[in-house]
Amino acid sequence: MHSFRYVDGSLKCEGVDLTSVAESVGTPAYVYSAETIRGNYRRLDAALAPLSDRMICYAMKANSNLSVLNLLVKEGAGFDIVSGGELYRVLRAGGRADRCTFAGVGKTAEEIDYALRQGIYSFNVESEEELERINEVAGRAGLVAPIAIRVNPDVDAPTHKYISTGKSKNKFGIGLDRAASVYARAASLPHLRIKGLQTHIGSQILKAPPFAEAITKLTPLVLELKSAYGLEFFSIGGGVGIVYHDSLESGDPAWWDSGSGERLTPEAYAAEVVEPLKVLGLRILFEPGRFIVGNAGVLLSTVLYRKSTPTKNFVVVDAGMNDLIRPALYEGHHEIEPLVQPTSATLEKVDVVGPVCESGDFFAQDREVPVLSPGDRIALMSAGAYGFVMSSTYNARPLLPEVLVEGDKATVVRERQTWDDLIRGEKIPD
Ligand code: LLP
Repeated sequence: MHSFRYVDGSLKCEGVDLTSVAESVGTPAYVYSAETIRGNYRRLDAALAPLSDRMICYAMKANSNLSVLNLLVKEGAGFDIVSGGELYRVLRAGGRADRCTFAGVGKTAEEIDYALRQGIYSFNVESEEELERINEVAGRAGLVAPIAIRVNPDVDAPTHKYISTGKSKNKFGIGLDRAASVYARAASLPHLRIKGLQTHIGSQILKAPPFAEAITKLTPLVLELKSAYGLEFFSIGGGVGIVYHDSLESGDPAWWDSGSGERLTPEAYAAEVVEPLKVLGLRILFEPGRFIVGNAGVLLSTVLYRKSTPTKNFVVVDAGMNDLIRPALYEGHHEIEPLVQPTSATLEKVDVVGPVCESGDFFAQDREVPVLSPGDRIALMSAGAYGFVMSSTYNARPLLPEVLVEGDKATVVRERQTWDDLIRGEKIPD
């Protein structure tokens, strides 16, 4: 579901014409729809409603703009965080630490201390050494750390190799074979309190059965831990995929991704996971990131030049791989829609590329798109998740502005960086 539509030939986000946003803030720029973010959250929450004790911890690594977090705080979301900086953002956005779970394989002692003192809901522990470290830090602070262990269920969830996490060859979690003994060790440490078990099988997953498979594989262990240590929660992680192909036309109700030929609605996901989760008799946590914000954002860009070689036609735009790295890093597909609907149905096969000095700086290769000329503006669709948050200033390109649309109102929720911002904190030695 999303709120991007052509109305009278102009691409709109809710009630706002994206051309007017491009004119007022310039391009490139990210634009998010508040209605879409809220709608996605509510739809997932409604689908999971049969689980009376549930907490949706939005995986804020997907998009951590304060305005997005604040919107989700108001919806009642908790947060899945992976750094001290993310916790700081949650608190600054009006969220509560006791609704945050702290994941990640490399938490530092400082981050652990900060999260403990803020009263985090749980640390999702990824290794034995980390367990010892959390115990130590908690002891020094005179506190007891709530923990869950991330257990790797060794489930194959079809997705890009860089975002698959649930196999034993991945760096994440502790193997199912060793989990019971790590819990026993945790129980023996004085400054830890066993609170839950967490798992996550990967990201951009468009089939529900792998989630159910992970639950089934972990159920005996979870029940055993529940009776041994009084487990309070089970977290199934995130990973529900979104539509990237034909994202403008399809969306709801088709929810069909022509690229992969697959789809996963929140209802289909819930139909597969709710029953096996209910059996556990625990609080259930979900950590969706991409599902909540992915289709809620676009990256606006302007065509700078056209250029041809004997074998290729290039369209050079003002956004680059430093602004949206998904195509370069994961072969990610983002639909390209002109902000003004073309009057001609003619398509041409082009590479849409950015200005960065890398051959990997492309948004589309050999793709049929409407004829684009210098000055035309486009939207790179479904860029709300892992878009701005993964951007960098490579090639000394300032970070982009972010705009939040709500009905007829567009608010700049992050200013575009200036060249002065780029050099802030740098120094030439005397
Ligand atoms: N929980 C854990 C423990 C995770 O590692 C992740 C994502 C999530 C939840 C949220 O997953 P989601 O619901 O968003 O699929 N940058 C990549 C995706 C990396 C995902 C990392 N972990 C991309 O652009 O495709």
